[in-house]
Amino acid sequence: MTKKRPLYASSSSSLQSHFWFGMKIVTSISVFMCIFGLLRLQSRSSPSIVRDKVLEFGRRPVEPFFGTPKIAFLFLARRNLPLDFLWHAFFQNADKRTFSIYVHSEPGFVFDEFTTKSSFFYGRQLVKSVRVAWGESSMIKAERLLIDAALRDPANRRFILLSDSCVPLYNFSYVYNYVISSPKSFVDSFLDAKDSRYNPKMSPMIPQDKWRKGSQWITLVRRHAEIVLADDIIFPIFRKYCKRRPALDPGGNLIAQRVAQKEHNCIPDEHYMPTLLSMSELDDELERRTITYTSWNESATEMEGNRWHPMKFGYKDASPEGIKRIKDINHVYYETEYRTEWCHSNGTSVPCFLFARKFSPSAALRLLRDGVVGPVVANALST
Ligand SMILES: *[C@@H]1O[C@H](CO)[C@@H](O)[C@H](O)[C@H]1NC(C)=O
Ligand SMILES: *[C@@H]1O[C@H](CO)[C@@H](O)[C@H](O)[C@H]1NC(C)=O
Ligand SMILES: *[C@@H]1O[C@H](CO)[C@@H](O)[C@H](O)[C@H]1NC(C)=O
Repeated sequence: MTKKRPLYASSSSSLQSHFWFGMKIVTSISVFMCIFGLLRLQSRSSPSIVRDKVLEFGRRPVEPFFGTPKIAFLFLARRNLPLDFLWHAFFQNADKRTFSIYVHSEPGFVFDEFTTKSSFFYGRQLVKSVRVAWGESSMIKAERLLIDAALRDPANRRFILLSDSCVPLYNFSYVYNYVISSPKSFVDSFLDAKDSRYNPKMSPMIPQDKWRKGSQWITLVRRHAEIVLADDIIFPIFRKYCKRRPALDPGGNLIAQRVAQKEHNCIPDEHYMPTLLSMSELDDELERRTITYTSWNESATEMEGNRWHPMKFGYKDASPEGIKRIKDINHVYYETEYRTEWCHSNGTSVPCFLFARKFSPSAALRLLRDGVVGPVVANALST
């Protein structure tokens, strides 16, 4: 027995170690199976979770509002607003209860009597602003900051995004009635069959059939502005996978650069809003066009990356005939969809464009003098 004891003991310890070894394997296998299962589950369910969350944004009711509705004018500026004198004349003809102004400019830039000719802009810069690189996702970040600030005032019912080179083509009351009477947002949104910007890595979170393109210059109803602000899913995916292709730098490593060039060249601000709204299944709540006119110079030498360069309006181009030609446009043809968009607001035929870009100060001065935004006010001209 005493002889067997060690044997017994040893066989028991070997049994034990076999047991523990077996347990380890079983545990590892089950842990592995669990992780594998979780991964599978996640990869199978997360697109639908994303889809449900995005759809939920659109289902939230907007609190009713009974006061005088305001339009929030959201300016995206590099620094100052060079056309402030024209906007001053525009806002001078307006009832102050019917509009509000927000400006996103470079961090630290303050609008006061030294930096703007119009008191309407004093102190209207966002406290929180980011450095914007044109054509990158920081642009969307800036747009979202503007929307965030403007949503804090419950009287703001429409949100118009404008650049520092945009001009109004009508007086305030015309713009107000046009935009407020429409229960829909104005968001240029179309399918581009030749699109090469969609990055398959976005799938299945952003399905390719929901991928849209459109002008960045949008006008949103409050509910859609709230959806943009609530979105914490689609924007991070854009930040990760929708990036502008860097330009070739002849001094750098050309091979590495050519590899980078093969990646999807994506301009986030031309896709984010229309794609988000289409994922929220809100295409029916949109007038699928922009109300800001841009003239594209389609000369090949002007092509920048993958997009045409907008033409800049000088004094000559801002003639009454030139402006009338823009105002007379009543439909837009979308070549890639064979779709003709007849311009409507609340079911009524309207001119397509209320604003235009890109205007030089001399072109804007001509609009002011010609009374495009209202009767010419002497002190506005003296500036
Ligand atoms: C504003 O413009 C519209 C259309 O151009 C015009 O009919 C209207 O009389 C103008 N209103 C004011 C207050 O100037
Ligand atoms: C929109 O159109 C409808 C039907 O024509 C009309 O009853 C309504 O008053 C209009 N809404 C606004 C805000 O103008
Ligand atoms: C378009 O760009 C070309 C080349 O840069 C230039 O020569 C031409 O004047 C531009 N056209 C307009 C209408 O701006």
